[in-house]
Amino acid sequence: MNIKQNYNNEAKIYEFTSRAVIIHFDEALDTFVDNLKIKKKNPIILDVCCGTCILTEKVAKKYPKAKFYGVDFSSEMLKIGQERMKDYDFTPILSDICDKKTMGSIPTVDLIISSFGIHNVHGLDQKQLAVNNIISHLKNGGQFITCDMLKGKNKTEQKLFDKLQKDWLLKTYSVKETNDWIKLLADEDELETLNNNFALLKNAGCQSPQLVWNKDFLAIWTTTK
Ligand SMILES: C[S@@+](CC[C@H](N)C(=O)[O-])C[C@H]1O[C@@H](n2cnc3c(N)ncnc32)[C@H](O)[C@@H]1O
Repeated sequence: MNIKQNYNNEAKIYEFTSRAVIIHFDEALDTFVDNLKIKKKNPIILDVCCGTCILTEKVAKKYPKAKFYGVDFSSEMLKIGQERMKDYDFTPILSDICDKKTMGSIPTVDLIISSFGIHNVHGLDQKQLAVNNIISHLKNGGQFITCDMLKGKNKTEQKLFDKLQKDWLLKTYSVKETNDWIKLLADEDELETLNNNFALLKNAGCQSPQLVWNKDFLAIWTTTK
C-alpha cells in the first residue's frame, strides 16, 4: 500500500471522491470555517495535508488577506491545490509531515488547520512524530484546529460507524464498488478515538483540546499551544 502514490493517481478525481467517500464532507468543512475566529489582520495560516486545497480555499474566502502555506506529500494533489489557490497568497510545500527536515522551510504560523490527512499516518509513534512536527510550527498561543473521522470507543460503536460508512458509500457507489472502497479505507486509514487524538496533542505541548463539533463519526476539535 503506497498512500502517496494512490493520492497522486487519484488527484484528478479527488474533488468527486472526497464527497462520495468522506461522510458529511462539505457540512464539516463549512462548520470548520464558521468556527475560526482570527483576530490578527494578516494571519499566517498552515494547512497540513492540504491536498487539493478544498479547505484552504474555504478559509481563504473568509480571510483573503492571510498568507497561506499548504503542506502535502502528493505532488499531484498539491498541483491542483496551487491552481485552486492562485488568487491568494499561497506557498505549497511538498513534504511528508513525518519528515522534520523537509517541513523545515515552514515558518512559525498563527493558525494551523487540517482535515482528513493525519489519519493516513500509521502507528501511534509515527503519528506522535507528525503531530510534534506540526505543532513545532505553531507560535505560542496559536490555534490548531482539525477535522477528521474517529475510531469507535468500543466494538459496538465501531460497528455503528462501519454501518454509517457503508451507507454513505452506497449513496454513490454500487455494492461491489462500496466493498472495494471499504477494503481500501481499511488499508489507508488508521483512525484514532477522540481521546487518543487529544493525547497526541497534549504530548506535543498543546493545552486543553476541546471538541467543537461531532456528527456520526466525524469530529472537529481544537487546541492552543
Ligand atoms: C483525504 S486527503 C485530505 C485533503 C484535504 N485536507 C481535504 O480535506 O480535502 C488526505 C491528504 O493527506 C495527504 N497526506 C497523507 N499522509 C501524508 C503525510 N504523511 N505527509 C503529507 N501529506 C500526507 C495526502 O497526500 C492527501 O492529499
